[in-house]
Amino acid sequence: MTVEPRTLEVVGGVLGRDAWAPGTPYRLNLERFVLTPLTESMVDRTYLDWMRDPEVIRFLDSRYKPQSFVSIRAFVRSFDNVDRFIWRVIAKDGLKPVGNCTLFLDRVNGLAEPGVVIGEKAFWGQNVTFEAYTGLYDFAFGTLGVEKIFSKTRSTNLAAVWNLRKLGMRREGFFPNHVRFDDRRVALIWYGLDRADWRASSTR
Ligand SMILES: CC(C)(COP(=O)(O)OP(=O)(O)OC[C@H]1O[C@@H](n2cnc3c(N)ncnc32)[C@H](O)[C@@H]1OP(=O)(O)O)[C@@H](O)C(=O)NCCC(=O)NCCS
Repeated sequence: MTVEPRTLEVVGGVLGRDAWAPGTPYRLNLERFVLTPLTESMVDRTYLDWMRDPEVIRFLDSRYKPQSFVSIRAFVRSFDNVDRFIWRVIAKDGLKPVGNCTLFLDRVNGLAEPGVVIGEKAFWGQNVTFEAYTGLYDFAFGTLGVEKIFSKTRSTNLAAVWNLRKLGMRREGFFPNHVRFDDRRVALIWYGLDRADWRASSTR
C-alpha cells in the first residue's frame, strides 16, 4: 500500500497552508481518510442514525437530548469555518462516511478543542480517531497557529482515554463526580498538548 503524505487543502482548489483565510472550508487529506467540510445539505439518515445509536452516543452529552434532522441541521449550521469547524470523515477505500470531527477554536487564548464521533461501528478499532486527530492537530497548530490543544473525556470512555494518551496528550485535570454517565456520576478528565510537544513528537 502506498502511503500518501498528509495534506491540507482549501476546498475550491487552491492548495497550501498559506492560502487559507478564516471562513474558507478546509479539506484534510489523510492517509486512509479524508475529512470533508460538512454542510447542512449533507445531514442525512446515516448521520441521524449514528446520533440515535445508544452505543455511539454512550459517552456524549447529546444522548441526553432528543436528536432529529432539525436539531442536527441547526448544530451543523452553527459551524462557520472561522472558530468552529466540522468535517465528515470519509474512508478513501469505498468513499464510505464513517463519522464526524469537530474543532472549536478559542482565539483569545490560542486554544483548540477537537471532537470525534465514529458512527460506523465496523470502523471502531481501526485507528480512525488517531489518524483524524493527527490531521486536526496539524491543522490547529500549523494553520490556525494555536498554542495548545485540549480534550475532555469521561473517565469511563476508555477508547478515548487510550487514543488521547497515544497522541501524546498529558492528563492535566481530574474532576471527580463531575458528569452524568448512565445512572451515575463519573469523573471528567482533562488532557492537554502544547505546540512544542506536538512539534517534537511529529518530527520523531
Ligand atoms: C471514542 C471513539 C471515537 C473511539 O473509536 P476508536 O478510535 O475506533 O476506538 P478503538 O476501539 O480503536 O479504541 C482505541 C484504543 O483504546 C483501546 N480500548 C478500547 N476499549 C478499551 C477498554 N475497554 N480497555 C482498554 N483499552 C481499550 C483499544 O484497544 C484501542 O487501542 P489501540 O489504538 O492500541 O488499538 C468511538 O468509540 C466513538 O466514536 N465513540 C462515540 C463518540 C465519543 O465517545 N467521542 C469521544 C468523546 S471524548
